[in-house]
Amino acid sequence: MDREIKRRAEDLLRQMTLEEKIGQMNQLSPSIVGGFEVPFEELIEMMTDGRISHEEFNNILMNSEKDFHEDDIRAGRIGSCLMNDPKKANELQKIAMEESRLGIPLIIGFDVIHGFQTVFPIPLAEAGSFDTEVFQESAAIAAREARSHGIQWTFAPMLDIARDARWGRISESPGEDPYLSAVYGEAKVKGFQGEEAPEKGIDREHLAACLKHFVAYGAVEGGKDYNTVSMSKSMLHNGYLPPFKKAVEAGAMTAMAAFNDFNGVPCTTNPYLLRTVLKEEYGFEGYVVSDANAVLECVNHGFAEDRKDASVKAANAGMDMDMGTSCFIENLEQAVKEGLVSEQVIDDAVRRILYVKMTLGLFENPYLSEEEIEKYDVLPAEHVAASLEAAKKSIVLLKNEKVLPVKKETRIALAGRLADMPEEVMGAWAIAGRTSDCVSIKQGLENRNAKMKYYPCCGPEGDLNEDEISILFGNLEETDVIVAVLGETSSMSGEAASRADITLPGEQRSFLKRLKETGKPVVLCMMNGRPLALDWEAENIDAIVECWQLGIQMGNAVAEVLYGEYNPTGKLAATFPALTGQCPMYYNHPSTGRPGSRSKFTSRYLDAPLEPLYPFGYGLSYTTFAYKGLSVTEEADCLKIQVEIENTGMREGEETIQLYMQDVTASLVRPVKELKGFCKVTLKPGESKKASMILDKKDMGFYDDDYEYHLEDGEFRIYAGANARDCLMESIRICRFSKEDVM
Ligand code: NOJ
Repeated sequence: MDREIKRRAEDLLRQMTLEEKIGQMNQLSPSIVGGFEVPFEELIEMMTDGRISHEEFNNILMNSEKDFHEDDIRAGRIGSCLMNDPKKANELQKIAMEESRLGIPLIIGFDVIHGFQTVFPIPLAEAGSFDTEVFQESAAIAAREARSHGIQWTFAPMLDIARDARWGRISESPGEDPYLSAVYGEAKVKGFQGEEAPEKGIDREHLAACLKHFVAYGAVEGGKDYNTVSMSKSMLHNGYLPPFKKAVEAGAMTAMAAFNDFNGVPCTTNPYLLRTVLKEEYGFEGYVVSDANAVLECVNHGFAEDRKDASVKAANAGMDMDMGTSCFIENLEQAVKEGLVSEQVIDDAVRRILYVKMTLGLFENPYLSEEEIEKYDVLPAEHVAASLEAAKKSIVLLKNEKVLPVKKETRIALAGRLADMPEEVMGAWAIAGRTSDCVSIKQGLENRNAKMKYYPCCGPEGDLNEDEISILFGNLEETDVIVAVLGETSSMSGEAASRADITLPGEQRSFLKRLKETGKPVVLCMMNGRPLALDWEAENIDAIVECWQLGIQMGNAVAEVLYGEYNPTGKLAATFPALTGQCPMYYNHPSTGRPGSRSKFTSRYLDAPLEPLYPFGYGLSYTTFAYKGLSVTEEADCLKIQVEIENTGMREGEETIQLYMQDVTASLVRPVKELKGFCKVTLKPGESKKASMILDKKDMGFYDDDYEYHLEDGEFRIYAGANARDCLMESIRICRFSKEDVM
């Protein structure tokens, strides 16, 4: 923490009353009090069941009657607001600055998750680009745009390790791997907050990041949202915390506690997670906010008796700001007077909050100027270009039986209602995105003057239109290839959108079966927010392109890939199981005593394959690559890994070479493989290159349940290759690990 800021914060703290201090710990959103014709609950249902779109819902909210709690702001009882309304933000800020006793600015927070008005690919897709520049740039653009809407704090990046495709929020996460998620998290923090260390101040083009959800939310039982979580502390430290640790090291200014309990203690009131791990072990200097309503939900958890008990437990555990319940402001003053919470606990929270506000320069520059307000509302060309770039790099080619790319003269029958639903390209967390900026796949193909006819036929909600199908079948003579755009709507993933069956929803598989019967080649373009179980499709469809929900430029990106103007490079950031029943399925599972095999008494299902359909890291190109000559050399503090890669196909292509490791024998059961690095190479047809990667010895260890880090001598397997399954392997025995040598 910057010394000058520390001193200023201390000065201010001394002048504050207890109520004003607790006011800083209170985040309220403007309450919606009316202005629409149906009850608010029904409005939410209407959006959930699709009667109104996300955008319509947001418009209704924007234009609804609200209570902005001006009197509370004036009284210093509110420290933060959750909102997206630049003009109103200025008005409220003016009250805080000029009419409250100490003139402490509000911090305005909002969910800016994968872009703001320039919507980028959903995080699960973007993570598959394995491209740190893309990760950082999309966050930087989102920050710039959000700042021009008065937002100074985003509730992102979401760094939940997600191993279960049933969990709807896998779409918001960078997937299943701790290493990739750590790389992603670090880049996002830099993108949101700027390259400089926060001590130097965060400028007006950037905002404060929030690491969420702390922690292990992705491990909810059965993949059901908000469910319970149990796991060993070693698993927590090795499998779930690495991206958070890395993002704290990168300077992340805030964190959000997860909704779930962790081994019986809600994360909101969990002193081990918030105080011991985050603040003490990681040295996190920012503040922790609860998730929405979560302080109060500790009563539902049966962990707190009432609002006051929940507030006491949360504050004592290290929760610095209450999102949305008013529990803190209503109860903590009394709790301090009764000795249930010490004033030091309150002071510590307020210091952290003031530190973030000062680092953001909010005291000096609390308002948006006229020029800044909505400065980026007409999307700048470079923002749109960055979104297109990210979209192309996130597309994953899963299967291609010589159908793709199509030629300019190929006559395409485009099928599936999703192809013409521009609002569905945005994904689940794109609150500020506008349909008018979105390019659907149909539009993207039209932009390339595709020889194409469009037949909606079948939507993600389970509806088949026989008339449209008959027209498509009647036109087969003039069709060379059928491109079917199928998958999920945006509301089928994201928060509160877990699914117990992750096959293509509705009638889409039966539609595909009928398409196959035509005998025409079929390309399946998937639009979805999670891995889906595509066993039949993988067996029967000629080409599958995983297009995810790619943001506003989706249609153009997909068209470039279909026509081969862009050679796919994306990889899967999460395993695709063959069947839902295999969930949770992830590549880096601990070794079992009876690894799955064909024999009966092994770790397997009777009625499912052993392997996933597509492993982590998988993704094809229009060219092919061959690997050979893996070598591993031990140096004093690292291993040097070299592998030769050749482009064995007919066109230039880029490959992401992945480096995995297995600690074969250790004092704790270790994963069968762990990603430890990756690099990219671009090769012309016939060209070979030697790729070199370094694995630092200090990164080859693991934590035990007491957070002791172990580096244990013995055999290690080193893998390099195209994905978590298809790798070359070399063994090495390390006998000179000692912490002193390598740390
Ligand atoms: C609930 C979600 O879990 C969290 O991710 C989000 O930031 C908050 N709501 C605020 O919208």
